[in-house]
Amino acid sequence: MSNQLNNNENTSALLQNYSRFNVEFVKGNGFNLYDKDGKEYVDFLCGIAVTDFGHNHPEIKKAVLDQIDKIWHTSNLFQSSLQEELAKKLAKKANLDTVFFCNTGTEANEAAIKFARKWGKERTTIITALGGFHGRTFGSMSASGQYKLWEGFHPLLPGFKYAPFGDFEAIEYAYSPDVVAIMLEPIQGESGVNIPPAGYLKQIREFCDRHNLLLIVDEVQTGMGRTGKFFAHQWEEVQPDIITMAKGIANGIPLGAVISSQKASVQMTPGSHGTTFGGNPLALAAANCVIDLIDEEILESNFKLGEKIKNSVELLYTDKIKAIRGRGLMIGIELAEGIKSKDIAQKLLDNGYVVCTAGESVIRLLPPYIITEKEIVNFALKLKEIIE
Ligand SMILES: Cc1ncc(COP(=O)(O)O)c(C=O)c1O
Repeated sequence: MSNQLNNNENTSALLQNYSRFNVEFVKGNGFNLYDKDGKEYVDFLCGIAVTDFGHNHPEIKKAVLDQIDKIWHTSNLFQSSLQEELAKKLAKKANLDTVFFCNTGTEANEAAIKFARKWGKERTTIITALGGFHGRTFGSMSASGQYKLWEGFHPLLPGFKYAPFGDFEAIEYAYSPDVVAIMLEPIQGESGVNIPPAGYLKQIREFCDRHNLLLIVDEVQTGMGRTGKFFAHQWEEVQPDIITMAKGIANGIPLGAVISSQKASVQMTPGSHGTTFGGNPLALAAANCVIDLIDEEILESNFKLGEKIKNSVELLYTDKIKAIRGRGLMIGIELAEGIKSKDIAQKLLDNGYVVCTAGESVIRLLPPYIITEKEIVNFALKLKEIIE
């Protein structure tokens, strides 16, 4: 049976806020997923950049199962050596000082906005990028420069200004003395895998230094080694004041983090922020294992595999593909006018490949770090066949 888009509004008790593909995965192993009928798929999506080391990874699974045998939840009223351990590891990777744990990317960004406001005192405005995506709650949604996300939800949280992504002069133009921070993704994910021009982040860092602003980098999708560096901003060798993370941090168990400099976090004292579930022991057990798996070899391999994907698709030249872009295992394939990304994603799914879309015309690939060259070549061949 073909995997048609879900159309069961009349039978489901679920809120119909997602446009779901009509397939349910019931099992996963490595880069493979299996549906209820036992059909096998190759996962080029990782649950949108989450299950980075694939499904059912033996070491991560063992870490979580060991933790399940010990304790599941205690609350942040008590000490947590698991949190201490991961905080040290993340702070070291980021060259920053403190870590706050939450559950999602949205929450991480929400917290980062609070950090900036608390630090800035009378300065409250944050410049963000048009096309940016930071989440769906009021702070993170207001930070996201996409009109379509705001429709029907006004008034937004005040205190945001938006500048076109990749345009440094627009940031200079947006600046006013009430600005406290600049917040952006190093590569825009949801908007179609947009890479800014070289030097853009460096210019922004210098601008922040000149005007005493915080640089907040949203690494929710790009972090944890996906682009071939632990953080994508490291391609430009800039030092953020705050980094937000989530998605792949615990390979599928909900966890988010805000990594901050001492300077930017010093105002966040007891009572200023918190969450019941943030830093849950199961998620921390997984994350402490995941971060140890990301070594230089993995980073190098992620970059090379990404190049292999780009080259394989480029080699099979077809005028139905307008552009292919990305870094490491974060890739957008922009289709020629008139071809709908959703249709191609559906056909790929019918043929056993799991991908997603970014807007009307971009196919987005976020494969696991364990994907093989053979699977990449097979995918490229199938994509060409489907597009043609
Ligand atoms: C860059 C970025 N920031 C924030 C978010 C929101 O994360 P979450 O869905 O975990 O709340 C996403 C999700 O796609 C994202 O890609």
